[in-house]
Amino acid sequence: MTSTPVRVGIAGLGLISRTHATAYLQMGGLVEIAAVCDANRAVAEAFAEEFGGRVADDIDALIADPDIDVIDVILPHFLHIDVATKVLDAGKHLLIEKPVAPNFDGALTIQRKAKEAGVHFMIAENSRYMAAYQAAHRLIEAGEIGDVLHVRTTLRSNEKAHLSDPDNWRCSYDLGGGLVLDTGAHSFYLITWLLGEIESLRGVGKKLLALPNEIEDTAEITGQLRSGAHFSCTFTSISEIPHSERLELYGTRGGILIDQMANPVVKLFRGAHDYEGTVIDEVPFGPDAWHPGGWHFESVLREVTDFITSLIDGVPPLIDNRDAVYALAAVDAAYRSIRTGEPVSMADITRQAL
Ligand SMILES: NC(=O)c1ccc[n+]([C@@H]2O[C@H](COP(=O)([O-])OP(=O)(O)OC[C@H]3O[C@@H](n4cnc5c(N)ncnc54)[C@H](O)[C@@H]3O)[C@@H](O)[C@H]2O)c1
Repeated sequence: MTSTPVRVGIAGLGLISRTHATAYLQMGGLVEIAAVCDANRAVAEAFAEEFGGRVADDIDALIADPDIDVIDVILPHFLHIDVATKVLDAGKHLLIEKPVAPNFDGALTIQRKAKEAGVHFMIAENSRYMAAYQAAHRLIEAGEIGDVLHVRTTLRSNEKAHLSDPDNWRCSYDLGGGLVLDTGAHSFYLITWLLGEIESLRGVGKKLLALPNEIEDTAEITGQLRSGAHFSCTFTSISEIPHSERLELYGTRGGILIDQMANPVVKLFRGAHDYEGTVIDEVPFGPDAWHPGGWHFESVLREVTDFITSLIDGVPPLIDNRDAVYALAAVDAAYRSIRTGEPVSMADITRQAL
């Protein structure tokens, strides 16, 4: 049990930080945004004005503040390992945005340090909190589609503005840019949570638009799960449709189609002649991802709320960090395959060992 209000310090105040802060405010007296910090002081001052909290001079000052219990790390990927290490060395609780680190080794280091520190630690992987994916998990567990033979994910975004700005960290691999890192962290987590570990994979990464960066803007990763099922992931950061996701599951008895741009969002099909399907109508249509009611926004609210309530109650959060760490092993394997053109085995990595 942790006493309330839980005092949170937020490091990094980009777009997604606003959703985290909204979640904290919605929790009323259980949470206090104690301090915020950003490399851009004007951004930090405006954020503090809107959401509350002191403005810390820098990340070190934020971590050293004795009146902060939790550090919420929402920073560019190249800073994650260093900042997470400092937070854990200071004995503070840690919520950190996905991907926990830019590579599997870094993810393992943070995971092990968090265990040693004995703090409340959660990788913010909002896929676990999306109503549509929770419905898919329930339907699979209930045996509604039988054994899953094939799963396909599609993540489409439009990052053209970031990818046109050579000063943006997303344009450089050294700074943690990379479409497969950014979106693979979600999809590999989702597949692992729903269906288990990956046996092997191969990948193709393409830079289809000549924007001033070194990053792939489109990628396909396919492979086999330990269950024998086939998986296929399509990622693009140059789509001209709204930011959205799709999940298709094909089993021995039925299938599930999820698309955040479709209304209804989730349909269950039972057999080749089930033309209507069954609408899973507890999943609301909210295609504007980044605003209240949107599929993404609402999942992040639930994620942050789960982190705080599980901390207060002294229980683990819904998310199993090992799945999110394991996703980074798949990201590393995917990049190895993209660079060599060869399939990569993941048979020697298990979540139990993480
Ligand atoms: N769950 C999701 O779907 C989702 C969506 C968006 C972002 N994210 C994750 O959130 C994290 C941040 O991404 P973003 O899109 O908000 O990035 P961003 O570039 O929009 O924001 C990062 C912020 O960090 C600040 N910053 C950079 N260096 C700093 C330093 N040394 N000290 C203090 N502040 C510093 C920048 O000024 C900027 O305001 C990443 O891990 C990203 O993958 C997750």
